[in-house]
Amino acid sequence: MKKTLLIPLALAASLASSGLMAADAPQGAAPMPAEMQNMMKVFTPEMRQKVMALSPELKGTIVKLHAGHPRRAKETTLRQIMHEILSEYQSIASALATDNAEQAAEAARRLASHRIPKGGLLPYFPLDKVNNNDLAVLPAMNTIVEGSALKLAEAADAGDMPKAASYMSDIMTGCVACHQKFRGVPGVSANLMTPLSK
Ligand code: HEC
Repeated sequence: MKKTLLIPLALAASLASSGLMAADAPQGAAPMPAEMQNMMKVFTPEMRQKVMALSPELKGTIVKLHAGHPRRAKETTLRQIMHEILSEYQSIASALATDNAEQAAEAARRLASHRIPKGGLLPYFPLDKVNNNDLAVLPAMNTIVEGSALKLAEAADAGDMPKAASYMSDIMTGCVACHQKFRGVPGVSANLMTPLSK
């Protein structure tokens, strides 16, 4: 009950603190939060257009997701950060297998507090997925991946390794769901004629 009230409040607060700026928005478009305006300076015109067309709610969601990850990468791309996240996941697995609660908790917290890649998340998504419908799943992805990692850390802190281990599949379910939606097949060769079956 409390949660349903808190979400719009937090959203309103993050929008207010980011300082909505209407100045550069085209006629009739939703105002653009300040941080997104900054990120958009390095976007291509096509990506910029897609982002400008997002609803105020969705823009607020993106701002909130970025605000939840205060560390910013200078040059690191999303793909590189994804590989870091995979390393942390593997570190957690190794820790669980060796009954190392501290390693599990630390790696899980690092996984949950990854940096935001250069330019933010959006420019790494396919252009046709940058719309209100597809991006609306992002908070759910964040909750299942990072929320479960934080729960795993808490269970490890409490010394409950079986419970900690049980969150591994929740985390990976989130990785897989997001990849199904936003990532193509990794490493497809432009030098192959045969279309891939997927
Ligand atoms: C918000 C959606 C999202 C979530 C959640 C997510 N990923 Fe990703 N991931 C992506 C996208 C998009 C790419 C493609 C990035 C690119 O190529 O620019 C990617 C790429 C990757 C890659 C690089 C492979 C390749 O060559 O494309 C790895 C490794 C990876 N993710 C691991 C993970 C793991 C492990 C998790 C869960 C702990 C995870 N990801 C969660 C969206 C996500």
